[in-house]
Amino acid sequence: MFLLYLFSSFAAVSGVLGSSPSYNGLGLTPQMGWDNWNTFACDVSEQLLLDTADRISDIGLKDLGYTYVILDDCWSSGRSSNGTLVADKEKFPNGMSHVADHLHNNSFLFGMYSSAGEYTCAGYPGSLGHEEDDADFFASNGVDYLKYDNCYNKGQFGAPETSYNRYKAMSDALNKTGRPIFYSLCNWGQDLTFYWGSDIANSWRMSGDIYPEFTRPDSRCPCDGDQFDCAYAGFHCSIMNILNKAAPMGQNAGIGGWNDLDNLEVGVGNLTDDEEKAHFSMWAMVKSPLIIGADVNQLKASSYSIYSQASIIAINQDPKGVPATRVWRHQVPQTDKYGQGEIQFWSGPLDNGDQVIALLNGGNKARPMNTNLEEIFFDSYLGSEQLTSSWDIYDLWANRVDNATSSSILTNNSVGNATIYNATALSYKDGLAKNDTRLFGTKIGSISPDGLLNTTVPAHGIAFYRLRRSS
Ligand code: GAL
Repeated sequence: MFLLYLFSSFAAVSGVLGSSPSYNGLGLTPQMGWDNWNTFACDVSEQLLLDTADRISDIGLKDLGYTYVILDDCWSSGRSSNGTLVADKEKFPNGMSHVADHLHNNSFLFGMYSSAGEYTCAGYPGSLGHEEDDADFFASNGVDYLKYDNCYNKGQFGAPETSYNRYKAMSDALNKTGRPIFYSLCNWGQDLTFYWGSDIANSWRMSGDIYPEFTRPDSRCPCDGDQFDCAYAGFHCSIMNILNKAAPMGQNAGIGGWNDLDNLEVGVGNLTDDEEKAHFSMWAMVKSPLIIGADVNQLKASSYSIYSQASIIAINQDPKGVPATRVWRHQVPQTDKYGQGEIQFWSGPLDNGDQVIALLNGGNKARPMNTNLEEIFFDSYLGSEQLTSSWDIYDLWANRVDNATSSSILTNNSVGNATIYNATALSYKDGLAKNDTRLFGTKIGSISPDGLLNTTVPAHGIAFYRLRRSS
């Protein structure tokens, strides 16, 4: 029993279960970028992609790490007589390689989309049975990333091996092209993708499609709670719904293969600022890809300052690559004076020995919440150095770029002399090693071995901290 406990603690702390090296050398940290689907759906064009890329670059988001520009569904007009995919000439008058060249000349990477089915979800030609031809099409057009969906799969699912083989066909075809192509599965977690995803891919969606609601249930996204093996993924999944499904899956993700909780809804719909902060923090903490889903030309200043919060991105891009674990989850009844809903506590190890923690309030009113070292280092043995040290608490949102600065960056279409982090100049890995203060938030106090960390967490909000051992 004791040995078993020791092993499981070691596995959880070090991320052993998910830390096999990347199958193709890519995805050493979760991918970052922009995808058109959440805002533009099928309304895609060369102009949208190139204008968006220019804007991402001008307002400093590219240098924060958002380098993949991903074109989702609806780009094609069919196949030629010899079976090659054809890009829609009205939407992409100069072809896909023109888009790729423009992106590459501006130091972006180019993502495209297809489906492991007869058609894509919007009814365009899918790649099932055409894997090698289509992989060649993507490679020869300079594509660096493939999002590979699951619609019209001819019933080829229902057992892990069936789905695995269907997705492996494209993995093999991409490898055969010789071009490094990040492979992002979008089979909505069907057939327990987290067990086999990292053997053949760099990330895998683990739920139905996200929508910009924090907790609202929707019957089109069944399986609420911890149901990680949801047979019907659906869509209109709230942020908390997806997060709860992802909670047990962190143990199977790690360097080279990540759980994808879907594109970010920051700046999409009517989420509150607290909801957007909680959403972004949790996606960062569980090591989901950080893919902007908003129209960057219409971004609110507050959403910009969330996407550009380098101390949060540094959690996501931490070289250890271990998703945080949910330590507890409580349902608060309607009779509670601080409102009703669910509250959670999450904790995760970081490469330099720091620890990231989140007190998450899914409830509908602000509430006092607390934690202590026993919960924070839940896997540590009694008397361990972690439990007997004092820790300084750094608030990861305290050094957020103010609204005036964000507005001026957006209006002037330039970072100007604002001190936005530049990961092109100093990678997160090196910035962390150099203790760059922009990556560490602001010290707000400390916690001793027998102390209590007390805070008030807003409704649908988060308290998000990095703990550093006190010197
Ligand atoms: C869904 C997928 C979405 C989007 C859409 C395109 O299946 O989950 O992220 O790609 O298809 O039709």
